[in-house]
Amino acid sequence: MKQILEELEKRRAEARLGGGERRIASQHAKGKLTARERVDLLLDEGSFEEFDMFVEHRATDFGMADQKIPGDGVITGWGHINGRLVFVFSKDFTVFGGSLSGAHAQKIIKVQRQAMKMGAPIIGLFDAGGARIQEGVESLAGYADIFLENTLASGVIPQISVIMGPCAGGDVYSPAITDFIFMVKDTSYMYVTGPEVVKTVTHEDVSHEDLGGYRIHAMKSGVADGAYENDLEALTQVRRLIDFLPLSNRDKPPVRESFDDPARDEPSLDTLVPANPNKPYDIKELITKVVDEADFFEISPDFAKNIVVGFARMDGQPVGIVANQPQVLAGVLDIDSSRKAARFVRFCDAFDIPLITFVDVPGFMPGTKQEQGGLIRHGAKLLFAFAEATVPKITLITRKAYGGAYDVMSSKHLRGDINYAWPTAEIAVMGSKGAVEIIFRSEIGDPEAIATREAEYKTRFANPFVAASRGYIDDVIMPHGTRRRIVRALKNLEGKELTNPWKKHDNIPL
Ligand code: HXC
Repeated sequence: MKQILEELEKRRAEARLGGGERRIASQHAKGKLTARERVDLLLDEGSFEEFDMFVEHRATDFGMADQKIPGDGVITGWGHINGRLVFVFSKDFTVFGGSLSGAHAQKIIKVQRQAMKMGAPIIGLFDAGGARIQEGVESLAGYADIFLENTLASGVIPQISVIMGPCAGGDVYSPAITDFIFMVKDTSYMYVTGPEVVKTVTHEDVSHEDLGGYRIHAMKSGVADGAYENDLEALTQVRRLIDFLPLSNRDKPPVRESFDDPARDEPSLDTLVPANPNKPYDIKELITKVVDEADFFEISPDFAKNIVVGFARMDGQPVGIVANQPQVLAGVLDIDSSRKAARFVRFCDAFDIPLITFVDVPGFMPGTKQEQGGLIRHGAKLLFAFAEATVPKITLITRKAYGGAYDVMSSKHLRGDINYAWPTAEIAVMGSKGAVEIIFRSEIGDPEAIATREAEYKTRFANPFVAASRGYIDDVIMPHGTRRRIVRALKNLEGKELTNPWKKHDNIPL
């Protein structure tokens, strides 16, 4: 009997060693943790339960029959984050470069299905070289099976991907279907085809970093939702994110006891908006002063910075925040900011997280670049996302709400539940200068007349009271009382019931 028990220990130890000491040392030398070390850091101490530690690949070509490593390049199982269930898979680069075989794919699919059955998030840690080249179509089939599970799980359980090393070929598309992608700076990159293939096909000379590093995806393409300094920081932040999310769409977002007074006044907000309408201010100051304990988990902080999105809590209730950022491009809506915010709004709506929208927007970005890039369709994404969302929607206009962007930003007309404005709000088709230059074009040569017209227009429209007189704004509120008013509004909306007409699915302008 003792021998049998010892045999189990021996097999376990062998599996835990993955690709062996030499490859583990090489992993560490690159500044990366091993797949197991990552799982240990991600989950509550001692909570990890592993599945399929002894699974091996079934390939025989290219001498593979003699090269079997238990676990086959991916560690899978479940555990807890702050006591709440999550499923996890972590690619082991020390085993065939973390590449995906048929058996490896089956291990991932098993946890994907289990996560769906149990209604718990799934987190994938990626560090892999794509399809297991020795397995051919078996590997391609495995990827497609994983993509299908990702797609079916979308909107049912939160799916999070962390890119912690190379992520090439088939490995990019599973993360792409998930809700959030985070990268580790300088050690991770993701691309469909690597620099060698790029060189052959397009004759471009490009490094891994310039093709798919964090500077590309977290700053330019928007594929990644954030990038962190190292493995430890990335995993710690994923733990923090999970705390804001419900386990599934059958669950409620986790309300926590708050130690921040829900009626807290914030007098400094009375002077946040500068007297000069063209002067910027930082919308993050409003966010952090209003939410519980200034705790704001920003999504995509380095991409499309003219809009700010992320999670926070109001009196313990998780909320999704969407806010124009006057500090960047005056907070204008363009292709990237529309895409970024639309995706976030849809995530919140899918998982029952109320939306709080702060509006200071001069309109949509004009220009050939934007029009040729499809601003009409991309802008419509955000419009569509706010319009279809049935979660509680609270909107506050702090300053500008001009033109179509007024409509888009969770206006009353798109079923905003409670729409507030500060006294500094200006709700109009456009700014006074532009408006006067169009409707009084014949007077342009007369600066005095134009100035009078501008002042007239300002008095008439550059305030919240015209909209309030029509009921499009429910109340004009004092900036210092914003937190108290939003907390009360959220409580008022707790019992909200609203459903959209039956359909197989909608056809969001993709
Ligand atoms: C099998 C692989 C592998 C792969 C790496 N390895 N990629 N084994 N299949 N795809 C093995 C290597 O042989 C090596 O084994 C170990 O992993 C580490 O690889 P290195 O090349 O030494 O590491 P490094 O220099 O860090 O380079 C990492 C890398 C590179 C950039 C990921 O390995 C690479 O380019 N791999 C191939 C990437 C690729 O083209 N994949 C297929 C994409 S097509 P030893 O024994 O020496 O440790 C695809 C189609 C799916 O995925 C499409 C579905 C939609």
